[in-house]
Formats: sequence, structure tokens, C-alpha cells
Amino acid sequence: MSNQFRFECHQHCSQTQARVGTFYTPHGPVDTPRFMPVGTLANVKTLTPAQLQETGAQMILANTYHLHLQPGESIVEQAGGLHRFMSWSGPILTDSGGFQVFSLSDMRSIAEEGVSFRSPRDGQMIYLSPETSMAIQNALGADVIMAFDECPSYPASRDAIQAATERTQRWLARCVKAHDRSDQALFGIVQGGTFADLRQAAARSVVEFDLPGYAIGGVSVGEPPELIEKIVKVTTPLLPVHKPRYLMGVGTYREMVQAIAAGIDLFDCVIPTRLARHGNALVAGERWNLKNNRFREDFTPLDSACPCYTCQNFTRAYISHLLRSRELLAYTLLSIHNITELIGFTQRIRQAILDDQFQQIFGTWLFSSDTQLD
Ligand code: GUN
Ligand code: ZN
Repeated sequence: MSNQFRFECHQHCSQTQARVGTFYTPHGPVDTPRFMPVGTLANVKTLTPAQLQETGAQMILANTYHLHLQPGESIVEQAGGLHRFMSWSGPILTDSGGFQVFSLSDMRSIAEEGVSFRSPRDGQMIYLSPETSMAIQNALGADVIMAFDECPSYPASRDAIQAATERTQRWLARCVKAHDRSDQALFGIVQGGTFADLRQAAARSVVEFDLPGYAIGGVSVGEPPELIEKIVKVTTPLLPVHKPRYLMGVGTYREMVQAIAAGIDLFDCVIPTRLARHGNALVAGERWNLKNNRFREDFTPLDSACPCYTCQNFTRAYISHLLRSRELLAYTLLSIHNITELIGFTQRIRQAILDDQFQQIFGTWLFSSDTQLD
């Protein structure tokens, strides 16, 4: 099992904690640092697996919470697991449902045993716990599964954050016990809000479980974005060098560069597909709305330096036209570009670290703010 999910570190940056590695899974390797596209309901919205593969995607995400509500894990299991169900032969990671229950549901109760909530789909009462989350994720069959955690909201009192963080630790022990497939790697999640000492205590106890990988959760929940870097910086030194590190829900340029400099390997975010659905393209580090009048007669590609299918074949004017006509192809073309762009960004960072040029090329993103952790 440890060998199936080994993480090889190829190179360390000489000036930061950044590193280049490969995380091996039963469905192929993941070259890190790398951005992972989100496919909540067993599809990355508007893309076929072939289109997704062409963006450079290696590992992709799916969600326990959403798939449990629809179609239900037994359908996915009957199909032969997520990889077969959605026809993605690369690595898949499922999030545990913890975060989504807290952010998306009408909560009924949060107790030590688990959480009850009303399904936003049909009003039915649903129960999730460390054991049910593991059972669902075992049935879905992703390569990497996440511990069931309590992600405290922001802002919250120190006592509330500490309680949620300690409960997350107790839930992790139950997840480890309930996890039942040796071909799936269970990652633990470090919580602790914006409190440096709570983060460090959480990191120390998560690491005791000697898991194949570790995540930092509870960021990008409303705290000042400049705190993400500080949270990562107090946590990563306590995580083992030879295991992958995943910063959950982060996927903006600056936050990824800063987190990579602090030793993070994996990221996920809905930004590229969500922006696409709103008619936006990520170009030159900016967000452009292609419905804007200035693109109506612009017969150049979104980004002439971009290797993606969209940029190789279509113009800004054409995408602008599709959006104005509400043609569905617009969303596919923009998603292809935006995902290629973010994965490409992490690939360029990877190459820069290999060439020991990370600080020189990406240093402008690395300024630190004066805001301090609690
Ligand atoms: N996605 C983004 N943040 C989190 C988190 O804190 N926990 C989980 N399970 N998923 C997340
Ligand atoms: Zn492109």
C-alpha cells in the first residue's frame, strides 16, 4: 500500500521550501506541484474526458456529498466505480463531504457521532459521519479519499475553532479505523483556523497516523487571503517531506505561488470552470469577460501563447458571439482554456523549480503582507 502511493521528491528549491515530486497512484502518476480540476458530480462541467485529458489534467476531484445525494454511491459502485462510471482512467480524489455539508446544507445537528442535514435536492434527512463517509468513498473507489472533517466557519471564536479542530482529530481516528480498501489512499486534514498554535497542534497529531498524504483545510473560508500563506507556512514544516501536501480549495495565482514556496504540492479550485460559466477567461493573470464589446471584432486567440485547443482554433470574436447567443460551446471552449491555463501555470512553476529559477521567475508573486496570524 505505501509503495502504491509513494511520493518521490525529485528536487528542492535552493531558496524556498518549494519542491518537485511525483505522487504515484493506481491510475497513474501525478507530477507536482499541480492544479487539479474539480468534477463535483463525476464530470468536469462541460468537458468530455478526452477534452479534459488534453488540458494536462492528471488527478481530478469528485465529491462525496454530491454523489451521495445523486445518483447515490451504489449506482457508481454497480457501474464499476467512479473511473468506469465517468470514463476517466487517470487518478481521482474524492472530498469527504464534511466541508460541503457545512457550507451547502440546512444543518440539523452536528454531534460527536456525525452530522444530520436536509438534502437540498429533495428535503430528505441525510446522515454523514466518519464511518458513512468512508463507506461512501470506498464504494465510489477514487484513488485518494479524504478524512471526514469539521471545517469551522470564519470568523469563529478560538474555543469554537479549537473544538472543531479537536473533533476533526477524533474523527480522523474513526476514519482510519473504518477505511477498508488498501488500493485507496486516505489523506488526513489539518484544521485550526487562523490560530498558529492550533494549526501546529493539529499537524502534529495528524502526522501520528502515518498516512500516505496530508491536506490543509479550512482556508479560503472568508479570512483575509493574505493569511493563507501564513497558515501554510506554520503547518508545512511539521508535515513529513516524503508525503504529498494538498491545499484544499485554493487555485488563484498568488496563493498557489506562495503555497508552493511553502512546500505545497497539490491544489484544487472551481475557479476555472466557474469563471467559464460566467463568460470569463483567465488571460495574462487577469479575468476577461468575453461578452465585453471590445472582443466583438477581435479576431485573435484568447492567448496567442496558449497551446490549448481553444486558443489554437478559435478567436475572441467567435467566443464572444457564442456567449451572446448563449451557445453551450462557449462554456466548453472557455473551460478548456481556463483549466489549461491553471495547470500550465503550475507546470511552469514545476519547470522553474527544476531549473532552480523559481525565485527569479515567480518572485514577484512572493511578497508577504504584514497581517499576522492569531
Ligand atoms: N475543501 C475546501 N476546504 C476544505 C476543508 O477544510 N475540508 C474539506 N473536507 N474539504 C475542503
Ligand atoms: Zn488557451
